[in-house]
Amino acid sequence: MKKRVLALLMCVLLVATMAVGCGEKKDNKDDSKATTADSSSDSSKDLITIGFSQVGAESDWRVANTESMKAALSEENGFKLIFADAQQKQENQTKAVRDFISQEVDVIVIAPVTETGWETVLGEAKDAGIPVIIVDRMIDVSDDSLYSCWVGSDFKQEGVDAANWLVEYMNKQGTGDAEHNVVVLQGTIGSSAEIGRTKGFDETIAGFTNYNVLEEQTGEFTQAKGQEVMEAFLKKYDNIDVVIAQNDNMAFGAIDALKAAGKTPGKDVVIVSFDAVKAAFDSMIAGDMNVSVECNPLHGPRVAELAKKLMAGETVEKIQYVEEGVYPAETAAQELPNRQY
Ligand code: AHR
Repeated sequence: MKKRVLALLMCVLLVATMAVGCGEKKDNKDDSKATTADSSSDSSKDLITIGFSQVGAESDWRVANTESMKAALSEENGFKLIFADAQQKQENQTKAVRDFISQEVDVIVIAPVTETGWETVLGEAKDAGIPVIIVDRMIDVSDDSLYSCWVGSDFKQEGVDAANWLVEYMNKQGTGDAEHNVVVLQGTIGSSAEIGRTKGFDETIAGFTNYNVLEEQTGEFTQAKGQEVMEAFLKKYDNIDVVIAQNDNMAFGAIDALKAAGKTPGKDVVIVSFDAVKAAFDSMIAGDMNVSVECNPLHGPRVAELAKKLMAGETVEKIQYVEEGVYPAETAAQELPNRQY
């Protein structure tokens, strides 16, 4: 009996020792896991994870914008960037934003294709507590608490600048009072860049009754579509004096179409463009383009600064415009070496 009690006691002791041992092992394992997680993610833990939904790669401007964002939102600068190219489709952007939410990113950055259609998905980001920075084009929402801030261009002012430059140029040529027939290659319909430039140009030029806007059509901000639409315009109208291309790439397409039709762009037909990318300066130096109204794509550094401030709980300015100029052909050779994009 004594022997049986002793055996039983030893069993209890053994089980208790194993239990303590297991407990210790478990604790150790948890500690080491925490340490590993802490040390392995030490660098990544400090990084701010940004999900960036970009419009696409439709133009030189867009490529420069992507480069600026990637350079500023680098690991060396304290960021982990998840980049999503929407290929000019808003539905791809909605999907990307939902992916960012499920990945629990720290900040969402969106360069929106079009202004409308953002309420639902931005409501989801807000519910998830993720701040949203809008860059480049604007969004049209009734509740502006759906985004933290916006950085971009004054597109309407760009349109006004283009019209004023044109009127002044024609005055200098001595043809200020002559009739001028204008065609407009618009950007993506419903994008802030298209809406603002169309409104700014149309409203300003309407003050000069000798300027006749024959037609406005979208060239989707691409060179190929710009060329295609210009070819159609040339078939329809034989009296085009001015082309307003709402970006440089569409202007390059229009220039090709005009040359193929035996016209001399920059002389027979005045070419007014937007963006002021390096290739536009080459085109102006070659005499093909008359002016490019700048649209500044270098948003990266400002977005990086805003993301850091938002993560630190600081309040930021809601609306921030970038600085932009107007570059006529006669300034191109001197300005080209200074251009960053
Ligand atoms: O939203 C900015 C516009 O988008 C640029 O003018 C154009 O080149 C780009 O595609």
